[in-house]
Amino acid sequence: MNFPFVLPTKIVMEPGLRSQVGQHLQEMQLTRILIVTDPGIEAAGLLSPIYASLEHAGISFKVTTEVKPNPRSEDCNRIANEYRGADIEGLLAVGGGSAIDAAKAIAVLMTHEGVIEDYEGENTLVTDPLPLVAIPTTAGTGSEVTFFSVITDSARQYKMSLLDVRLAPELALLDTEVTAQLPPAIAAATGMDALTHAIEAYTGKMANPISDALALHAIRLISSNLLPAVEERDNHGAREQMMVASLIAGMAFGNADIASVHCISEAIGGMYDTPHGVANSIFLPFIFRHNCDADLERHSQVAFALGVDPQLGEADAARAAVDVLFNMSQRLGIPKFSEVAGVQEADFHSIAEKSKQNISDASNAKEMTVDSYLDIIRQAYNY
Ligand SMILES: [Fe+2]
Repeated sequence: MNFPFVLPTKIVMEPGLRSQVGQHLQEMQLTRILIVTDPGIEAAGLLSPIYASLEHAGISFKVTTEVKPNPRSEDCNRIANEYRGADIEGLLAVGGGSAIDAAKAIAVLMTHEGVIEDYEGENTLVTDPLPLVAIPTTAGTGSEVTFFSVITDSARQYKMSLLDVRLAPELALLDTEVTAQLPPAIAAATGMDALTHAIEAYTGKMANPISDALALHAIRLISSNLLPAVEERDNHGAREQMMVASLIAGMAFGNADIASVHCISEAIGGMYDTPHGVANSIFLPFIFRHNCDADLERHSQVAFALGVDPQLGEADAARAAVDVLFNMSQRLGIPKFSEVAGVQEADFHSIAEKSKQNISDASNAKEMTVDSYLDIIRQAYNY
């Protein structure tokens, strides 16, 4: 056995923690920061306790709320240009995966020349980015503990990945109160994103014993808590467990990679701006079914973690898991692929090619070709 497992991020979880952010930044000796967030977070009133805490701690701050879903390279480049030379010492990301990934990219540009497109790929950084603190507001992304930043290059209609251990936030503050205001559709899609992280980490070729333990536990937690967290407004316990699940699924895939579900979802996200969690939910059952026979044992373990009858044999259990995944998506109101805005059959070849080019294609349980991606895309379209 031979594997590394890296987790440079300190994690603190506590209800109401955002009101203590100033204290945590003081401990990191940060006195001037840039907050990276989006208009939805601002409108939900989640920032007021953060501002109060920073003022109380004597930390000066600037705020940008210009992050869009599927964050764009031009926005990251523009924001970084605006604040380069403004004596910013660190960044605070408040939001879902889009805000945290954008903050990672901006943290890079604050210490590097050029544009974010220059740093696409693996280990392209030449020095440390500015330190980053993340307050996730969805239970799905895991970006608060990963070393990835996924940014849409609008010119290529392509979601590019940056991968470097120095992209990891220094501190993740998990405030279990913040997901209380999450709209059900976002809770559903982001929860399915977390499930996809866990399943791809566990069944993928880069899995290791530590990521396995984290991923299987995340799958169990999501299986028990996602529907109650979405459907029961006052179920604080389920939402808290989803935040744990998202976090540990992030720790798993940060080290074991994601795979072909994400390859397709990032391709269509880059082309149609489809919400990331929605795209993953659509393709997860199809890729799972396609991959099963590459490793029946692992796919059956996923099935049992999803609550499938433990008396079933491996092949039957794996088949039953496919139905569980389809049913979860349906119950959560995830649209079908043919209902996604902008999708047209003429693009399918291009989606398949972009999926194959993805940095995580090689981690899929079963080797994929452009044709096998095309086949999955057509299956999903005709479902
Ligand atoms: Fe994801």
